Amino acid sequence: MRLVEDTWLAKRFGYPVFRIDLDPQKEAAPADNRLDLAPLQKDLRQFRPVFCYVKIGASRVDRVSEFTAIGFRVVETNITFLRKLPLPSGQPSLQDRQFRIEPVILSQHSQVLAVAESCFQYTRFHLDPVIPRRIADEIKREWIQSYLKKERGEVLWIARFGQDLAGFLAFLRQSENRGVVDLIGVAPQYRQRGVARALLQYCFQYCGERSLTVEAGTQAANIPSMHLYEGMGFLAQRSQYILHYHAAVGGADIRCA
Ligand SMILES: CC(C)(COP(=O)(O)OP(=O)(O)OC[C@H]1O[C@@H](n2cnc3c(N)ncnc32)[C@H](O)[C@@H]1OP(=O)(O)O)[C@@H](O)C(=O)NCCC(=O)NCCS
Repeated sequence: MRLVEDTWLAKRFGYPVFRIDLDPQKEAAPADNRLDLAPLQKDLRQFRPVFCYVKIGASRVDRVSEFTAIGFRVVETNITFLRKLPLPSGQPSLQDRQFRIEPVILSQHSQVLAVAESCFQYTRFHLDPVIPRRIADEIKREWIQSYLKKERGEVLWIARFGQDLAGFLAFLRQSENRGVVDLIGVAPQYRQRGVARALLQYCFQYCGERSLTVEAGTQAANIPSMHLYEGMGFLAQRSQYILHYHAAVGGADIRCA
């Protein structure tokens, strides 16, 4: 088990943030190997305030109990989907022909950031009752900002309706033969008109031409996106509980409601 500083998230929160990396071999073993969490508690006590998170395989309820016993709380269950090759070929179709899909250009930057910072409600940051909505929204805005600054990702496609930006899909390359739908979002007023489906079709076309399988992750609570991925032929591959730990100045653990 390793405690790793998350400097990107720390910038958003304004205080130290850590990720716990669990040993994959121990996590795959039968559910009877306990972790010694005392050193972790000692390390975390050095920082106030502090935010720490860990991802635990959904079958390891025993592990979840160990972490909740020291103040961590489950905030989300994450599902990873995979769409294998061959990907559907042919021209992506839009239910509403007035939409266009294209890679983002400079003049659309502020619009795509505005959609990114306002369209999410089920991310682990939005679901965690301890995290202010302002910070959860800013995390998504900065995530897309990192695409615009070319610090992260491979392509950022946008869907537009005239001059209005309706949605986006941020795509990154995870390995030589795997791409990832890093983030997808559609502005509320343009939902359920086929925009996300069309964005995924563009992504499939791009990945098909490069022989890439496509991975996507979402939250079990996010029924619209679960339906979206199921409807586009993705199959669930992995599920993980996401746990958060918060401690405030003064030493008290911040308990989720
Ligand atoms: C999830 C999201 C991207 C879907 O975008 P959208 O443009 O409305 O989706 P589409 O119109 O292309 O719909 C495609 C499929 O998604 C599913 N879907 C979309 N909205 C849904 C809803 N409110 N409830 C249930 N299923 C829904 C349906 O299966 C739909 O297919 P159908 O029209 O044949 O029934 C959109 O709701 C959104 O931006 N949500 C907030 C951001 C987010 O949660 N992103 C995913 C995080 S990983």
